[in-house]
Amino acid sequence: MTHPLNVVVLAAGQGKRMYSKLPKVLHQIAGKPLVGHVLDTARALQPSKLVVVHGHGGEQVQAALASGQSDLAWAHQAQQLGTGHALAQALPQLEGGVTLMLYGDVPLTRVSTLQALLAAVEGGKLGILTDVLDDATGYGRIVRNAAGEVLAIVEQKDATPEQAAIREMNTGILALPTERLAGWLAELKNDNAQGEYYATDLIALAVRDGVAVATVQPQDHWEAEGINNKVQLAALERIFQQQQAQALLTAGITLRDPARFELRGTLAHGMDVIVDVNCVFEGQVVLGHDVSIGANCVLKNVTVADGAVIHPFCHLEDAVIGAGSLIGPYARLRPGAELSENVHVGNFVEVKKSVIGVGSKVNHLSYIGDTTIGCDVNVGAGTITCNYDGVNKFRTVIEDEARIGSNNCLVAPVTIGARATTGAGSVIGKNAPAGELTVARAKQVTIPGWQRPEKPTK
Ligand code: UD1
Ligand code: CA
Repeated sequence: MTHPLNVVVLAAGQGKRMYSKLPKVLHQIAGKPLVGHVLDTARALQPSKLVVVHGHGGEQVQAALASGQSDLAWAHQAQQLGTGHALAQALPQLEGGVTLMLYGDVPLTRVSTLQALLAAVEGGKLGILTDVLDDATGYGRIVRNAAGEVLAIVEQKDATPEQAAIREMNTGILALPTERLAGWLAELKNDNAQGEYYATDLIALAVRDGVAVATVQPQDHWEAEGINNKVQLAALERIFQQQQAQALLTAGITLRDPARFELRGTLAHGMDVIVDVNCVFEGQVVLGHDVSIGANCVLKNVTVADGAVIHPFCHLEDAVIGAGSLIGPYARLRPGAELSENVHVGNFVEVKKSVIGVGSKVNHLSYIGDTTIGCDVNVGAGTITCNYDGVNKFRTVIEDEARIGSNNCLVAPVTIGARATTGAGSVIGKNAPAGELTVARAKQVTIPGWQRPEKPTK
């Protein structure tokens, strides 16, 4: 590989056709900003210098990329005077070797494609990533001589009809000899149809100076596709999701329908994992062996241990699910839900910041918040931990083998002792002793001889 390697990412454009307050490069594919995809790709090349040229919404772009990005350098382009002008803003920060120019709105270029381009420029050549399209309208065209050598790139708006008929286009991605850039960039003129300083004019200058020009093509057209509007954003999102789904299928996961699968982050998995349709995985999700995820589930930053079954329509976030557990349908695990092995959490149950011990069951219509539940506990239908007095949160403790009757309110702070039982409909505001039955509800009374009011008969 050619070193040192500088990567310059152009990200100053506004993206008018997105019709959005958000700068274009911050729109997302698979939950990550477009420019974030480009930076991931750039970093895989291990550049010695990584510069982002920002302009429109620059502070927003910097803020969005701020965390954990200490390797980034910034160059500000106050006015968008063209791609050549944008590159020139980064020039003072470049350090010899090769400079690879990427676009912040071309998110899906393969690392291997860029490696091939860098390999092609060894020995001081200039490299262009080109593609041959049936319809290259709108793109710069690659002009070659009879011997097939590249002479120049001509922009659509400056092209003669013969040039406009050329099907080989400039993807925009260039690999440039850094030492020559200062001289060439100073020579760029804006006497063209758009009145811009074109990076593409560097090619003719290189040819004039006897620098050889190499071209490389991507494996797939979409690698060089940029995003200017929501139609293109949606199309590349689909391609990205398809690629991820194919990789997971290849690695042995069963996706009932790879076209109805969304991964916005990373998914690690064991063997014999089955994912039904319309599931969304976000952040870091880890699925053990023999895990089954039902249709229409959302899992964000969740770990699911071996053999657990998530039934359809569950929403799970920042939660840990133990081996053999059964969740849902229609369960919600919120941040801090930690379930041990063989736990059952059934329909319309919400669990937040709570630990549930081995073999315990909360099967129907309950809210468990700020609670520690021991092993082999059964929580009856409709039970609520009253953890919040409007100001402070309090904890509930339910010890091993306790049985909570249906429709209980456990008013925290409160402890239900081991093997304690509570009666249905109880409001438990004081600790319930271990091993005993505690009932806290109005006694049932019958009023003898009570007269039901009746309408007078006329
Ligand atoms: C550019 C190429 C064209 C190529 C096409 C591929 C030039 C002159 N033309 O055309 O040959 O086929 O890309 O998509 O380079 N940008 C800045 N600052 C500027 C101008 C642009 O940061 O002053 C950024 C934009 O945000 C965008 C990228 O550079 O990410 C490309 O700019 P754009 O104006 O879209 O170039 P095209 O006219 O499409
Ligand atoms: Ca463009």
